[in-house]
Amino acid sequence: MPELVAPTPAVQVSYLKAIDEFQAEGRGHDDDHTMLGDEIRTNRDTWQAPEAFAAYTARLRADTLEETPRRQGWVPCTTLWYVDGDEYLGRIAIRHRLTEWLLEYGGHIGYDMRPSARRRGHATAMLRAALPATKRLGIDPALITCDSDNVASRRVIEANGGRFADERGGKLRFWVTTDTAT
Ligand SMILES: CC(C)(COP(=O)(O)OP(=O)(O)OC[C@H]1O[C@@H](n2cnc3c(N)ncnc32)[C@H](O)[C@@H]1OP(=O)(O)O)[C@@H](O)C(=O)NCCC(=O)NCCS
Repeated sequence: MPELVAPTPAVQVSYLKAIDEFQAEGRGHDDDHTMLGDEIRTNRDTWQAPEAFAAYTARLRADTLEETPRRQGWVPCTTLWYVDGDEYLGRIAIRHRLTEWLLEYGGHIGYDMRPSARRRGHATAMLRAALPATKRLGIDPALITCDSDNVASRRVIEANGGRFADERGGKLRFWVTTDTAT
């Protein structure tokens, strides 16, 4: 059964296959301004090497810490990978607080599911599984946004109780209660 784990070198082989799938659908090109696009461009020439991949996962884990140096304007972020055994399925990123830009467009939480694992309910389950960790970070409710035409992501948010707030600049904004006990 899939579970959320901190980024780990244990799934390197599967992770790199997932990246091939993302690149095959155009992710990582110069016009891909998402976190994933940025990571592909930064790491694709090195992360085949086990030690480089291990360092990449260590950087992701360190990004949860306030004191870790990061780009100006960026906030600490907890990344969790959704894995089934040694198979990488997807990932979810929880930004610890909202900047002006995140409040308008990016939200607290972003996620993606590898293409070969889509349409099996994984993203819905992954977001649900990440809500307790989000709550522990002191975030409640969480802001989650998606492009206006992203039907799948909208359904993932709504299946997790997302309350529609408004649409800003082509993004739908939803608030999701992270206290799953209520
Ligand atoms: C959005 C995304 C995470 C959904 O992942 P997923 O694992 O396929 O989602 P689920 O299987 O949980 O499906 C959620 C719902 O969306 C529907 N759905 C999934 N893909 C769909 C598609 N391409 N078109 C229409 N509906 C779709 C499912 O049928 C399901 O609907 P239901 O709850 O009514 O049955 C995945 O498509 C993805 O990674 N896309 C690229 C990155 C992205 O858009 N991230 C979100 C940024 S806000």
